[in-house]
Amino acid sequence: MSRASLPAFDFAARRAHVLDRLDGGIAIFRAPSPVTHHHDVEHRYRREADFFYLTGFPEADAVAVLDASADREKFVLFVPPKDPERETWTGRRHGVEGALTQFGADAAYPIEELEQHLVPMIAGSGPLHYRFGREDAFDRRMLGIAKSGWARRPRTANDIPLSIIDPGPIVHEMRLHKTPAELAWMRVAIDIAAEAHVAAMREAKPGVGEHEIEALIEYTFRRRGAEGWAYPSIVASGHNATVLHYVSNDRVLEHGDLLLIDAGAEFGGYCADVTRTFPVDREPTREQRDVYEVVLEAQLAAIAAIGPGRTFESVHDVAVEVLVDGLRRLGVLDADREKAIADGHFRPFYMHRTSHWLGMDVHDVGAYRRDGGSRLLAPGMVLTVEPGLYFSPAYPDVPERYRGIGVRIEDDVLVTEDGCEVLSAAVPKRLEDILALKE
Ligand code: GLY
Ligand code: MN
Ligand code: MN
Repeated sequence: MSRASLPAFDFAARRAHVLDRLDGGIAIFRAPSPVTHHHDVEHRYRREADFFYLTGFPEADAVAVLDASADREKFVLFVPPKDPERETWTGRRHGVEGALTQFGADAAYPIEELEQHLVPMIAGSGPLHYRFGREDAFDRRMLGIAKSGWARRPRTANDIPLSIIDPGPIVHEMRLHKTPAELAWMRVAIDIAAEAHVAAMREAKPGVGEHEIEALIEYTFRRRGAEGWAYPSIVASGHNATVLHYVSNDRVLEHGDLLLIDAGAEFGGYCADVTRTFPVDREPTREQRDVYEVVLEAQLAAIAAIGPGRTFESVHDVAVEVLVDGLRRLGVLDADREKAIADGHFRPFYMHRTSHWLGMDVHDVGAYRRDGGSRLLAPGMVLTVEPGLYFSPAYPDVPERYRGIGVRIEDDVLVTEDGCEVLSAAVPKRLEDILALKE
C-alpha cells in the first residue's frame, strides 16, 4: 500500500480542536533537536508525536505555536531556515516558505528568531501551555521566554494567571481516539509487522542466529516502506525469553528452543506491537505446550473482555485470573485463586501489565484512569493484549521442568461499536497453525 493512496490527516481540524480548549491562551509544541550519537554523528530523527499530530511538519528543531488570543495569527511555525550549505550535509528543508505554503502556517519564522517573536506573544496572551520534561535545553529556553514575556506583561493584565499548563491532556485525549484515517495507517503498520512475524516463523530453525531473524524482520519493515521498528526488536530464544526486554539478539537457536519475538513496525508515524512465541523445531515439549496453552487461553479470554463500556483494568483482571488458574494446574502455585491473586503470588511469573494504549507511540498516550476509576473503553481506542508467563532459570520455587520457559502472546486490538477487532489477526497464534507454516 503506497503512502499516497492512504487518507491524509486534517491537521487544521486538529489544531482548531486544541485552540478551542486553550481558554484564550497560547500553546507551544516542540519538535526536538536531533540527539547526538557520538561526536558529530546524530541518531536518526524520530518525529515527536504531539508536534507531528498537530502540524504534519517532519523536520527536527521546530516549534509550533497555537495562539487562541483574539485577533492573532492562530498557527505560527518556527522552522530551520533554508540554508543551501547545511542542506548539502543534512538534507532538504522546507524552510519558512514551505511552512507557509505546504503546512498552512499563518506566519512562519526561522527557529533562531523564536525569542524575538514569542516573548511579545506571551506578554499579551492568556495562559501558557507547554509540556516540560522532554528536552532539557529547550525547557530552559522556554522558561527564559516565559519569564521575559511575563516581565513585559502590562500591569492591567495581572488578572491573567501566571501559570504554565501542560497541554498534554488535551492532545492525548484526541490521540487516544483514533479516526478512520489514523486506523488506515495503523492497519498498514500492523500488516507489515504481521508479514515480518510470518517470515520469521518460516525462517527460524536450529543453527540460525537470533540476529539473523532480527535482520529478516527489520528488512521486511524497511522493504515495505516502514520508517523502521517502533521499538527495538526482541528476538529471544531459549531462556532469553524470560528477560522481558532482551534486545542483544546474539544467541544461536538450538534444537528444542522456544523463540519469543516481540517486534513491530512504525509506518507513517503509527506503531505496531506484536509478540509471538513458537518452537523452532516441529514439536514443542509437553511442558512448553502446557505453558503456551495457559498463556493463549489467558490472551483469548482477555480479548473477549474488550468492548465499549468495559474497563481497561478488567482486561488485565481476566488475564490474571486465567493465568493463575493455569499456574495452579501446572503445579507452580498451590494457594487458591483468590488468595494467589490478592497476595500477588503470580508476580514472579507475570510481572507486567496486560495492556497499554497503542498509536503514534508504542506505549501511547491517554489517561488510563478517570474519575477515580479505570478508564472505560470506547470505539476507536487501540490497546495491546499481551499476557505472558516467564520462568526464570534462576528462580528456585518452580518445578525444574518449567525453568527457562518464557511465553508471551501479544496482539493489537481495536475497540469497535459492538466489541473489538484484533488488528494483528493475520499472525497465527495457535501452535498447530504456526507449526503448519514451518512444514
Ligand atoms: N514491545 C513493548 C511492549 O510490548 O510493551
Ligand atoms: Mn506491548
Ligand atoms: Mn511488544
